[in-house]
Amino acid sequence: MRERALLVDRRRGEAVRRTLAEVGALRPDLQILEEGDRLVLPLRPGASVPDGLGEIGLREFPPLELPPAGGYQELLDWPAAAKALLPRSFDVVGEIVLVRLPPELEERKSEVGAALLEFVPGSRLVGLDRGVQGAERRRAVERIAGDGPWTTRHRENRLEFDVDVEGAYFSPRLAGEHARVAAKVLPGERVYDLACGVGPFSVTIARDGRAVSVTAVDVNPTAIELLRRTLSRYPFGASVTAVVASLEAFAPTATPVERVIVNLPREGIKYGALVAPLVVPGGRLQFYEVVPRDEVEGRRAVVERLLSAKGRFAVRDVRLVHPYSPAQDLIAVEVERAPD
Ligand SMILES: C[S@@+](CC[C@H](N)C(=O)[O-])C[C@H]1O[C@@H](n2cnc3c(N)ncnc32)[C@H](O)[C@@H]1O
Repeated sequence: MRERALLVDRRRGEAVRRTLAEVGALRPDLQILEEGDRLVLPLRPGASVPDGLGEIGLREFPPLELPPAGGYQELLDWPAAAKALLPRSFDVVGEIVLVRLPPELEERKSEVGAALLEFVPGSRLVGLDRGVQGAERRRAVERIAGDGPWTTRHRENRLEFDVDVEGAYFSPRLAGEHARVAAKVLPGERVYDLACGVGPFSVTIARDGRAVSVTAVDVNPTAIELLRRTLSRYPFGASVTAVVASLEAFAPTATPVERVIVNLPREGIKYGALVAPLVVPGGRLQFYEVVPRDEVEGRRAVVERLLSAKGRFAVRDVRLVHPYSPAQDLIAVEVERAPD
C-alpha cells in the first residue's frame, strides 16, 4: 500500500528526519528509502507537515525491522507496534539520560526510563525532556527512573563540564559547534562569550590557549556558578572571567575586543546593534539565529543592512547548525568588521 512520503535532499535528510520525529509526523514503523540524491521519509497518515521541508509524494515502504539486538528497546517486552513508537535516539549528559517520548508512550514512561537506565553504562538518572523554556532557557525535566540530583559532570571535547540539567542551559548536541568556533580563535585575541551558559565556548577557547583573555557573561547566576566550578578544576581557568550580567547591562561599558560570540538564537540579530560596537575593526562577531527556512538564503544581505548603522560589517559565513522547528532553521552567522 502506498503511504504519504516526504522527499528531501539527502544532505538535509537526517536533520529533517529528526524534526519530523519531534513533531510526531514520522512513521517510526516503516523504512526510510533512498532515491538518488533524495531520502524518502514515511509520514503518519493525517500528520501536518509544514511547508519548505521537502516535496510530498506517495511511496510503498517496507516495514522497519525491529531495532538491532543490543538497543534499549530489546529490554522492553512490548508488542512490536508499541516498540515502533520508541525513540531511536536519546541524549546523555554525564550520568543523566534525557529522552523525549511521543504522547502515546506517556503512560509507559517509567518502563522506558528503567530500560534506558539499565542500557546506558554509568547512568544513574533518566529524565523525560520537556524542552527549554524562559529567557534563561532552562530545561523542564521529569524524573522517570533512577535517583540523585540533576547536577552532573559532562565530558565534551576532552573537557569536563559541571552541568545542572534543570538549572542552566546545556545541550550535548553542540559539542562540534563549540570546538569549531574555538578553532577559529587567533593568537592574541580577546574574546567575549555572551550568553555563555555553563561556558562550553569559553572553556574550550581557554584550553586551546590562543586567546589572551576570555570574558564569559550570562544573566543566569546558576550558569555562572557552574562555569566557575568547571574553571576551578583547570590550570587555564584563571584566563576566563565569568560575569553574572545581562547583555544589556554588560555591553554599553565593555571595551571592544577581537572576537565576540553571542549564542542567543531566538533573539539573534536583535542583539546586533548592542554587540556590534564591541568588535574592534578587523574583528569578528559570531552569532546564532533561528530564522524561517525560506529566509536563510537572504540572511546575509539582511544582517549586513541591519549592522551598517554601527559600522562596515561583511558576512563571511552563514551555516546551518540544525533545523529548529518544522519551518525554522538554527543558523550560525560569522561577520567581520572592516579594518580601518
Ligand atoms: C542557548 S543558551 C547558550 C548557552 C551556551 N552558549 C552554550 O552554547 O551552551 C542561552 C543563554 O543565554 C542566557 N541569556 C538569556 N538572555 C540573556 C541576556 N539578556 N543577557 C545575558 N544572558 C542571557 C541564558 O541564561 C542562557 O544561558
